[in-house]
Amino acid sequence: MKQSVKIIVGNWKMNGTTADLGEARVLLEGLADQPVDCIVGLCPPATLISAMADVFNDSPVRVGAQDCHAKPGGAHTGSLSVAMLADAGAEMVIVGHSERRAAFGETDADVAAKACAAVAGGLMPIICVGETLEQREAGRALDVVAAQIDGSVPNAIRGVSFMVAYEPVWAIGTGHTPTLDQIAEVHVCIRQRLTALYGPQGQDVAILYGGSVNPGNAVDILAVDQVGGALVGGASLKAADFLAIIRAA
Ligand code: PGA
Repeated sequence: MKQSVKIIVGNWKMNGTTADLGEARVLLEGLADQPVDCIVGLCPPATLISAMADVFNDSPVRVGAQDCHAKPGGAHTGSLSVAMLADAGAEMVIVGHSERRAAFGETDADVAAKACAAVAGGLMPIICVGETLEQREAGRALDVVAAQIDGSVPNAIRGVSFMVAYEPVWAIGTGHTPTLDQIAEVHVCIRQRLTALYGPQGQDVAILYGGSVNPGNAVDILAVDQVGGALVGGASLKAADFLAIIRAA
């Protein structure tokens, strides 16, 4: 069975305080006025998960986290466990975002451990992969992404729902996007890798595209072969833009 309903997930990154929950309310009203046939998630900073989950209570919008610790608890100052995030109201969690891989030195093994912890704790992991500009220019984009899939998607995930996000590092927050052919090429490569690893389950995994998705390019990107949805950063901060992307789906 192939995924048909698109999945649009927003990532607020380190943006937003309670004052910005108004955007979540505007989003909610927009979706109530004109319901959509897609799955919507929003990942605010951890400090807002609980309040945002209250805003979206009884609505189809799911709240997620941007990261988790792989361990269930202990001496990890500043970190949050999966159980804590779920307790706050998260239903999904982004793991292995390139900003965390780059700034915190997270390896594929770290990402796989976090994804494992997420599924064990009942959160849907969104496992991020993507090449740097140097890697793309060296003709290594497909090899890099395939290796990240192999290393970041844990074996324990077999039979459990998870998502993958392809986010070329050079497209994140830059306003530059790959060509539609380039997006298709990598998504097909990821699909082949997932199918080789997990068989029929690999066909069902949603592969989201992320990196400078906006209301102007969403329709074209979401129509690309094997693109199951979008992971949206900057354009998810304003309800009007995020709604336009959701409507594109
Ligand atoms: P962007 O970020 O949409 O602002 O490029 C995407 C992401 O990092 O998930």
